[in-house]
Amino acid sequence: MDERTSEAWCAKLGAGGAKPAPSCAIVIFGMGGDLTRRLLIPALYNLSCWGLLPDGIAIVGVGHSDIGIDELCTQLEAGIRAFSGNAGFNRAAWDRIARNLDYIKGEFEDPATYRELAKRLSTKTKDTGENVLFYLAVAEKFFAPVVLRLADVGLTRAEHGWRRVIVEKPFGHDVASARALNRTLLSVLSEDQIYRIDHFLGKETVQNILVVRFANGFFEPIWNRDHIDHVQITVAETVGVEQRGAFYEPTGALRDMVPNHLFQLLSLTAMEPPIALDANAVRSRKQDVLKTVRPFTEDDARRYAVRAQYDAGVSAGKPVKGYRDEARVNPHSTTETYCALSVLIDNWRWAGVPFYLRTGKRLTRRQTEIAIAFKRAPHLVFDDGPVGATTTNWLVLHLQPDEGMSLHFDAKVPGPAVRLGNVHMDFLYKDYFHVAPSTGYETLVYDCMIGDQMLFQGAESIEAAWSIVQPIADVWSEDREKGLVRYSAGSPGPLEADKLLESEGRHWRPLDRNE
Ligand code: BG6
Repeated sequence: MDERTSEAWCAKLGAGGAKPAPSCAIVIFGMGGDLTRRLLIPALYNLSCWGLLPDGIAIVGVGHSDIGIDELCTQLEAGIRAFSGNAGFNRAAWDRIARNLDYIKGEFEDPATYRELAKRLSTKTKDTGENVLFYLAVAEKFFAPVVLRLADVGLTRAEHGWRRVIVEKPFGHDVASARALNRTLLSVLSEDQIYRIDHFLGKETVQNILVVRFANGFFEPIWNRDHIDHVQITVAETVGVEQRGAFYEPTGALRDMVPNHLFQLLSLTAMEPPIALDANAVRSRKQDVLKTVRPFTEDDARRYAVRAQYDAGVSAGKPVKGYRDEARVNPHSTTETYCALSVLIDNWRWAGVPFYLRTGKRLTRRQTEIAIAFKRAPHLVFDDGPVGATTTNWLVLHLQPDEGMSLHFDAKVPGPAVRLGNVHMDFLYKDYFHVAPSTGYETLVYDCMIGDQMLFQGAESIEAAWSIVQPIADVWSEDREKGLVRYSAGSPGPLEADKLLESEGRHWRPLDRNE
C-alpha cells in the first residue's frame, strides 16, 4: 500500500462521531521503554490517523537515555510500523506527532528533571493551553516518586486547565501496598485526576460486554441464578514468561492477572445495570460485585484455588523450557504460572452460582472468553433416551483471539428419526464490522484526554480486588512447594484444576474454540 492510499484508508476508519480531544500536552515518563514504543506511540499515531488528536498538542518524553530527537523519531517510527496494526504508514499522521515531540533526559527521582519539565511545559501553553496528561509508563517503584515530584514543582495543579495522571499496572502487589499507593497519590491529586489503567478495558470486546448485556432485551431476564448454572472465565496464553522473569518471579499468575484483568471480566459480567452510562454509575456497580465476592478463608484458599507451574513441553510444535529454566527465574521457584479459582458472589442475583476463573501461561491455546452455562430445561423429555442426551446451553463471549459470540444449543438432526445434535451459532466481529487495527490503548488515552474515567479503576475497587486475593496469596506464600502442582507446557493446565469443577459435577470448556 502506498502512503497516499494508506492516508485515505486511515481517514475512512475514523472513530464514528468522536471529536478530536481538547488541546493538551502529553508527558510520557519512560519514553525509552517497551510500552511506549509498542503501545503508546502507536496508539497516539492511530488516534492521529483517525483525526482524534487535537491540533494543539505537545508530546514530551522523559527517559534515562541520552538520545537526540531525530534518533528518537526514527526509533518511534519503526515502532509504529511494527506495532500500530496498520498495514500502511500514514506519513501525515506521524508528522503531526513527530513535529510536536520533545525529549528530556533525566532521572525519575531527581528534582532537576521536574524543574526542566516545568520550564519546557511553560513554553508550550500557547498551543496546548494548561492541560497536561502525565503517563507513567515506568516501573511500579517510580509511581509515587514521580507524582510527588510533579506536585513539588506545582505541575499537578493548573488554574486554567486540567492535570491528569495515567498510572500503569501493577497498582500495588497486595492490599497494603495498593492502599499505601492510593494514599500517596491522593495526598497530592484528587480521585478525578487519577486514571488507573487496566489494558483489558481498552479491548473492544471487553467493552462490548456492557453493550451485549444492556442494549439487548433478551439477556437481562435470564441473567441470574434462576437460569444460569455457572460461569467460566478463561484467560489462557501460549506464551511463557518471555523476558519478564525478574518481574514475574515475585508476582506469579494470581497477582499478575486476577485482581485486575479477570476481576474486570467478572465484574462486567456480574454487575447490576448502571443507572447511566457514566463513570460513577458504571464503576460503582462494578465495585458492588467485588464487595460481595465471598471472602476466602484459609481452608477455602486450599480447597477452591489451584496453583500450578509449567514444566518443559511442546508449544506450537516446538520444544520449550520449563518455568524454572527460564531466564531470571529461581531454579527452585514456587511461583505459580497458572491458577484457577472458584468464586462465589453473595448477592441476590448470583447466590449459589459459581464463577470459575482460570488463567495460565504456556497453555494449549490463546483463548480469552467468558462462558455462561445455562441450567438444563426443567423437564427433560429427551434426556438420555435413544435420541441422545441434551447438552449444556452455552453463551460464550469470545474476547481473544476470534472476537465474537457463540450460542450452543440442541437441535433436531434432520431425518425421520428424532435425534438431538448440538449446534454452535457463531457471530464473529470481523464478519459484521470493519475492525480498525489498533493497539487497545487508543480508547484509554483518548478517554483520559476527554476526562472520561469509565474505563479506569477507582481507588476502592483496586483495594477491594486485592482484598479478595490476599488470603489466597498469603496461604500460597506460606505453603510454598506444598500444593503447587505441575503441568506440561503446551497442555490445557493441571488435572487439579479439572478436579475443582468435577467435584461440583462440572467441566471446563476445552481450550479449543472448535471443540
Ligand atoms: C499483562 C500481564 O497485564 O497482560 C501479562 O502482565 C499478560 O503477563 C498480559 O501476558 C495479557 O494481555 P493480552 O492483552 O496479551 O491478553
